[in-house]
Amino acid sequence: MTTVTPFLPWNRPLLGQEEEAEVMHTLRSGWLTHGPKASRFEEAVKSELGVEDAFAVSSCTAALHLALLAAGIKPGDEVITPSLTFCAAPNAIVQCGGTPVFAEVDPVTFTIDPEAAEQAITPRTKAIVVMHYGGQPCDLVAFRKLADDHGLVLIEDAAHALHAWRDGLRAGSVGDLAVFSFYANKVITCGEGGMIVGRADLVQAARLLGRHGIDSSVWQRHGERRTADYEVTVAGLKYTMPDITAAVGLQQFHKLPDFTARRAQIAASYDRSLTGLPGLRLPTVLDGVRHGWFLYPVLIDPVGGRTRDTVAGMLLDGYGVGTSVHFKPVHRLAAYRCLDCHLPVTEQTSARQLSLPCYPAMASTDVQRVIDALHAIWA
Ligand SMILES: Cc1ncc(COP(=O)(O)O)c(C=O)c1O
Repeated sequence: MTTVTPFLPWNRPLLGQEEEAEVMHTLRSGWLTHGPKASRFEEAVKSELGVEDAFAVSSCTAALHLALLAAGIKPGDEVITPSLTFCAAPNAIVQCGGTPVFAEVDPVTFTIDPEAAEQAITPRTKAIVVMHYGGQPCDLVAFRKLADDHGLVLIEDAAHALHAWRDGLRAGSVGDLAVFSFYANKVITCGEGGMIVGRADLVQAARLLGRHGIDSSVWQRHGERRTADYEVTVAGLKYTMPDITAAVGLQQFHKLPDFTARRAQIAASYDRSLTGLPGLRLPTVLDGVRHGWFLYPVLIDPVGGRTRDTVAGMLLDGYGVGTSVHFKPVHRLAAYRCLDCHLPVTEQTSARQLSLPCYPAMASTDVQRVIDALHAIWA
């Protein structure tokens, strides 16, 4: 089949002159790596979230790895996490020598179910990594209590949820640690990047591990010229965010409220226009939630000869509209293949789920194009 042009991608970043100017300023400043811009980005996120500390890193995956290392995850430890997620958290658990234990998700929000997580706790459980699916936070109150009751470290994988709330709590401010992604398709981006925030002692441990285990930052040694000498106090990794990247992130962060408002507007248009198409289930936002709308996730029940895959194919081939799937269940991926994992909600959700385009770079005509295409497919 021929693809209709212009192609409307599932996602596209929105960058402007502010980012360009900040990057040019960095390039001309003589300081390219982790330094003053990274610190400003960290300060901005830290103060908005009201967390004790923040450390800007090269990706959310790096942040997850550091979070688990800082939490002390080691061989033999179990970490509870959903399977309906990106592979980054389970991979990071395995890289620490730990074992991911997959818990079922809630069928409405697709976020990890607190009761299922509680049932998965064993004497070997050391931590829980929750995930705020698509920008709708999991039950933060329940997970904070669960972690406290069982002496577990709570890590929020808030890759989708930099601007989301639930029950008066900001996503990323409740866990002992939380991580964010600034990957190219996220709610704000710097191409590749991430941040780890939370308890000062744990973030400081992550910061040390993320700069080779060196006891001072390169900015302190050479920018502020405090001392060029250093000590390696722990065998670490190199995960710091460079200032060129932080320059983009800083300017994107200022735009986050506007970006979220536009995402919410697009979601509302879809809600209004797509209600009532048989077999198409639109996302439910719980009371007390401010959704970040990283995803607009629909479920397509196999009725009327339509399936998720046929609809995705028709949108792409017939209307030039890109979509995505979030996610293939991790327990079914080749590296994990867990045969005795019983996760029917995860599997049914994954088989039916489709993410429609929902991002601030979309024009209203783009949104209408997606709506019209879906109506035509359902006609
Ligand atoms: C839930 C979740 N966690 C972590 C990541 C990894 O983010 P990064 O690409 O910044 O490492 C992603 C990426 O899409 C994600 O969706």
